[in-house]
Amino acid sequence: MTRRISLTQYLIEQQRQHGHIPQELRLLIEVVARACKRIAISVNKGALGDVLGTAGSENVQGEVQKKLDIIANEVLIEANEWGGHLAAMASEEMEGIYLVPNRFPQGEYLLMFDPLDGSSNIDVNVSIGTIFSVLKKPEGSKGISEDDFLQPGSAQAAAGYCVYGPQTTLVLTVGDGVAMFTLDREQGSFVLTQEDVKIPEDTKEFAINMSNMRHWDAPVKRYIDECLAGEEGPRGKNFNMRWIASMVADVHRILTRGGVFMYPWDKREPNKAGKLRLMYEANPMAFLVEQAGGAATNARERIMDLKPTKLHERVAVVLGSKNEVERVTRYHLEQAQ
Ligand code: AHG
Ligand code: MN
Ligand code: MN
Repeated sequence: MTRRISLTQYLIEQQRQHGHIPQELRLLIEVVARACKRIAISVNKGALGDVLGTAGSENVQGEVQKKLDIIANEVLIEANEWGGHLAAMASEEMEGIYLVPNRFPQGEYLLMFDPLDGSSNIDVNVSIGTIFSVLKKPEGSKGISEDDFLQPGSAQAAAGYCVYGPQTTLVLTVGDGVAMFTLDREQGSFVLTQEDVKIPEDTKEFAINMSNMRHWDAPVKRYIDECLAGEEGPRGKNFNMRWIASMVADVHRILTRGGVFMYPWDKREPNKAGKLRLMYEANPMAFLVEQAGGAATNARERIMDLKPTKLHERVAVVLGSKNEVERVTRYHLEQAQ
């Protein structure tokens, strides 16, 4: 019989053999995984669990909240507040940071999450997910404030996502490569199904919302036009396109078979750097993608080098197969000269 390695076992082995995972961080990851299992149960119930549709409220970014956005947010908070591993949390669905209540012990870590990514896909039964990012609270900081969260992505201690699709898969990095765990529903545990995930450097697949083409900046248009020109064009090969509109699902495809994902700045809202959120979406995905040998930029600079200025900061995102990300980034830098 082949040996099945559970998430718990994997984390303990990482802790023992490689010293990557301190005890508190292991607990944190296990608690997040447990919360994801609960969210998966709600997602799977769909209409039967009365979890579809809107909640009738808006989040801080002015987006209409779905029932599942709120349920997932509550599940993550409830699961994480009492274990003693966290100092505070921040979420796409909450305006300010959430301090661990005084009645519980305070830990060293800060947890950020997009509780439900791909909200527009919930009601239509398409893959959605939860994205999370872990930072350590700065040395010597006593009371926790929003400023303590404003660390570059390169400071992340761990990051990952759980995709609720045909399978429920948890994807994790603690800075030593990327591992994937599939939820075994009968056992109720995440089982290691792929280690040392690697993104091919080249690809023939791109992901972008093409309906925004008329609003794009010239370098984005140049890159996509060249892909669309296919074999006869400057790239000399045909490209395929996928756009799921759940970043988790698009990134999961890229970690599985390569590709490039873009949500660039565009002229619809010129004062916003992009649509996606630096702390809950771009940084954790950039960490995973880099750990799998890919690259992630805001079309000019490495995402994980950016110094956040506010919790809900937005950013342009180009990530995936290294050579394609470098090409898109180069086109932008050439324009700037
Ligand atoms: P969220 O559901 O957390 O607000 O995130 C949705 C994001 C991302 O997952 C996806 O890639 C993108 O928004 C889709 O945007 P468009 O609808 O503009 O294509
Ligand atoms: Mn999202
Ligand atoms: Mn979300």
